[in-house]
Formats: sequence, C-alpha cells, structure tokens
Amino acid sequence: MPKIAVYPGSFDPPTNGHLDVVRRAAKLAGTLYVAVATNTTKEPLFSVEERFALLEKITAGIPNVKVDRFDGLLIDYARTVGASAIFRGLRAVSDFEYEFQMALTNRRLNNEVETLFLMPSQDYSYLSSNIIKEVGRLGGDLSPFVPPEVAELMKRKHSGKGPGK
Ligand code: PNS
Repeated sequence: MPKIAVYPGSFDPPTNGHLDVVRRAAKLAGTLYVAVATNTTKEPLFSVEERFALLEKITAGIPNVKVDRFDGLLIDYARTVGASAIFRGLRAVSDFEYEFQMALTNRRLNNEVETLFLMPSQDYSYLSSNIIKEVGRLGGDLSPFVPPEVAELMKRKHSGKGPGK
C-alpha cells in the first residue's frame, strides 16, 4: 500500500461521496494528500480558497490527511509530494471512460505512479457536485448530500451573503 498518495479533484463543492473516498483512501495510505486542482476547465462555484478551507474542516478528524492545492499537471504534483499512487472514486460505469483515459495518460507520463480506484458507499454513488450545485441554487435541502459546513456556505452564497457575513 502507498506510503504517500494523492486524492485529487475539483471538489466544487466537496460532497459526502468525496469524504467517503477520503476516509477509505486514508486507511490505505500512510499520508494522503487531498489536492484541489486550481486550473480546471470548469467554471467553479467555489473559489480555490473556499474549497481548500472546506476540505480542511471536513477532514480535520482524519490524522494522516493533508489538504493541498495544485496547479498544472497532476502527475507532476504527485511527483513533487513523493506519491506513488493516485486515488480516484469510481461511482458508476459512466465514470469509467474518463477515468480510464486519465489513468492511462498519467501512466504514460509517469509509469511509477499507479492510479487506484475506490468505490464510495452505495449511499453516495449517485452524488455529483453538479447536481448538488443545482439543488443548492434552487433552494433544496442539501443536508443528505454534503457535510454541514458545505451546506452552510452554499446557502450563504445563494442568499447573496458573502462567506464571512
Ligand atoms: O473532480 P474532477 O473534476 O473529476 O477532477 C479532475 C482532475 C482535477 C483530477 C483532473 O482534471 C486533473 O488531473 N487535472 C489536472 C491537469 C492534468 O493533469 N491533466 C491531465 C491528466 S489526464
């Protein structure tokens, strides 16, 4: 099992499904870097600082987790922190093609880093950040889908109040 591993993502926002994968991956790795990608092609709802802060709060009880951020190629970041593995969550067959492309591209770029897939609990396998954002935007109850800290910040955002207000 990897001494150092990375669990990368957009985390916009972090969901209960992400947290489930963090917990599982943290049991397998010595140190797990939960790494927020800062330059994805998607237009994020939450700033990198917000996503970073939320991940720090919701993973605070897991001692071998470090929250970080990265710019550029994931595989270069993995090398920088000395990781031998990248964890990714696999929810359904629909995730497979993209994950397969990413894993093999990363392997081509660095054959020393393995991509390992974990399945989140079936309670969360239908969750996606995009659908959760829509529920939040339209005023739905977010409590089944995201940790309370995330639900609170989403509510503030949609009520027009800033994070500190
Ligand atoms: O949560 P997401 O959006 O599915 O995460 C995707 C992410 C951020 C892991 C992926 O887009 C990524 O690794 N981005 C960094 C740029 C990179 O390395 N691209 C080539 C990998 S195929």
